Amino acid sequence: MVYFGGYCRLVYLVLLSLVTTLLDKEVRMRDYSLQVVLKDLSQFSMVYFVPLADFHEGARDADHEISNGYINWIAEHDAFTILNGDMMNCAWKDSTPELWEDLITPDDAYARLRARLMPIKNKIFMITRGGHCESIFRKVGVDFMARLAYDLGDIPYRPDGGMLGVKLTRSTQGRIFWIYATHGWGGARTIGAKIKKVEDLANVTNADITVLSHDHTQAIHRLNVLEPPRSSLSFTRPAYVTTQRKLLINTGGFVKYSGYIQRKGYMPQDLGTPRIRLELKYKGKRVVKDLHASI
Ligand SMILES: [Fe+2]
Ligand SMILES: [Fe+2]
Repeated sequence: MVYFGGYCRLVYLVLLSLVTTLLDKEVRMRDYSLQVVLKDLSQFSMVYFVPLADFHEGARDADHEISNGYINWIAEHDAFTILNGDMMNCAWKDSTPELWEDLITPDDAYARLRARLMPIKNKIFMITRGGHCESIFRKVGVDFMARLAYDLGDIPYRPDGGMLGVKLTRSTQGRIFWIYATHGWGGARTIGAKIKKVEDLANVTNADITVLSHDHTQAIHRLNVLEPPRSSLSFTRPAYVTTQRKLLINTGGFVKYSGYIQRKGYMPQDLGTPRIRLELKYKGKRVVKDLHASI
């Protein structure tokens, strides 16, 4: 009897651990927010990365000429992008963007945005969500960026931000460039405050490139951090510290000076966004990652 009780208890514990493991696995599989987006571009040793954000499609003064210029440039070159939020203006009755000025429904704005992005749908690594689309999501549970990610061909969607790994190859040596992007938060008026935000973000990511949008002000900065030797370490030969370059990118916006931006006394925005060159170069016999960015 004692033996039978012990056997039942054992079976019970095994079943319990099995169910717990399965449930845990199911929960982990559903939680894709920390799942890295990986892109194998081994056919290239150099590509351009032009992160797009803040199109504010539907806004009265959204500048389609400039944003279409970027879309066309990406389509015609070995260039790739992410959509880092506020791609739609999403004005509603009580929102900061003025509904009566936009005079376009979110559905119409969505249709226009999707049509404009079609030529580069295979060059979008990842989509995040900005505060404007989030306000609609919070109000009625409709997530236009999730829909866009699906409609453009199941592009990885990371509403709150995501880590991206892009593999390039030179000769036979492959290297992965790590890029972290999230839309952005809060307000900032000074250039220093805007750049401080992306510096803060770089402190928590350890990616090669950290991309922040939202402030509509293009900026490029670098952090050169001391890197201990990570491989080929011999305890009989001297080892040296190297510097690792981290690129900080503030993307620009695509809305002309008007409306609440003007009324609140913000500075006129830069229209456009930085262009980053990811390249593998030879340093002696070793292939190393090289980053260059321009506005
Ligand atoms: Fe924005
Ligand atoms: Fe924003």
